[in-house]
Amino acid sequence: MKITVTGTGYVGLVTGVCLAEIGHDVICYDIDEPKVQMMKQGISPIYEPGLDELMRKNMEQGRLFFTADEEMAYGQADIIYIAVGTPEKEDGSADLTYVEEAALAISRYVRKRAIVVIKSTVPVGTNDRIQRMIHEHKAAEADITVVSNPEFLREGSAIYDMFHGDRIVIGANDPEAATVIADINKPFGIPIIHTDIRSAEMIKYAANAFLATKISFINEIANICEKVGANIDDVAYGIGQDHRIGPHFLKAGIGYGGSCFPKDTKALVQLAGNLQYQFDLLEAVIHVNNKQQLLLYTKAKELFGSLAGKKVAVLGLSFKPNTDDIREAASLVFIHRLLADQAQVTVYDPIAMEKAKAILGDQVVYASSAAEALCGQEIAFIATEWEEIKALPFSLYVEKMKDPVIFDGRNCYDIKEAERFPLTYISIGRRPIVQAPSMEGSRG
Ligand code: UDX
Repeated sequence: MKITVTGTGYVGLVTGVCLAEIGHDVICYDIDEPKVQMMKQGISPIYEPGLDELMRKNMEQGRLFFTADEEMAYGQADIIYIAVGTPEKEDGSADLTYVEEAALAISRYVRKRAIVVIKSTVPVGTNDRIQRMIHEHKAAEADITVVSNPEFLREGSAIYDMFHGDRIVIGANDPEAATVIADINKPFGIPIIHTDIRSAEMIKYAANAFLATKISFINEIANICEKVGANIDDVAYGIGQDHRIGPHFLKAGIGYGGSCFPKDTKALVQLAGNLQYQFDLLEAVIHVNNKQQLLLYTKAKELFGSLAGKKVAVLGLSFKPNTDDIREAASLVFIHRLLADQAQVTVYDPIAMEKAKAILGDQVVYASSAAEALCGQEIAFIATEWEEIKALPFSLYVEKMKDPVIFDGRNCYDIKEAERFPLTYISIGRRPIVQAPSMEGSRG
């Protein structure tokens, strides 16, 4: 089977590389020539632990190729994965331009039997629409079937997830095509769920919406914990032991970001709205997340009144650890507020500095280490739980900062440990530690 993957973003590139790793011949196609040239040299355009090595290994072993030539990509392919982006439109719905362009290009070049597998997250009904579109435009001799195969991988652990995912979902109206795609995936050794196309599309949105709901739920519980004097870490552990709830996705913090949850939750609300159904619960989940992303800023305002002229360090910028992705990151949301309040902001992230520079420009100072970022600051905001940040001792904050006040958006540290130092440590859903003499003064 000759496989082509179109779109070499997160999902496309990881899918292509991992399909090659399990023994298939794979061509990854992208319209972006410079990006293709880079990949031909074995350099991954995205930061993902382990991806470069796996990419080079499969290129050397002759199973993985890159091209910007449409005819070469589609002409001989038996299976074509569409993994192009579906960015958010202004109204929150998914922009399907790239998926449609890929479908038209496939119709132009395919002249035989081929299966088109849609990996991109697309609103329910899109696979059927793409199938119709291909039928209208394809060559008479071409026999093309569309299969939905949504992707559940997480950034930062994408390769691991490809080999250890909980399930592979295959939605098809053509049982023969479903069997072919199941056979291709067999070497991953992951349970396969067969369903119809629309249910497969819905599984993806429902999964992301449910996970986002868990996060907003635990964040609301954390906010109440603070008021009643309970500890969210213990509460999350306590409820997570109930197997009907489960221990995962109960980490309270400053909300979810990234390229999927914010976009997909809004798209599902929009999809339901288009069908005259108001998805009240998911709207509340989104509202809670918007509030939560500003929580550190809100707490700092409560404590200090004005933040004008305050010297603030922000540790961690990416939307989560092990990625350089800052899309929809909480850090950016509150940094913009801090800047609007005329705070002086210094930032540090182990990996995401270049991406941050493209957005924040010269409005902030860029430090080359966490220690440098903390030097002479009055306030530290922690936005991402990188191992490097979790490993920083409180003694460093005390040594580098002036009467340190730490707002920890990811509960990186032990509150009992914080009590041993002259500092103020405010985290999420746990009692605040207020030890710095100068802070006691300011609280009357
Ligand atoms: C997510 C889904 O997990 C994945 O299945 C889907 O394919 C794409 O979207 P990803 O965006 O890479 O993956 O990251 P994920 O690890 O799920 O985290 C998303 C956000 O939720 C991060 O900002 C993270 O900090 C936050 N989160 C996650 C929490 O705040 N608490 C948690 O308990 C878990």
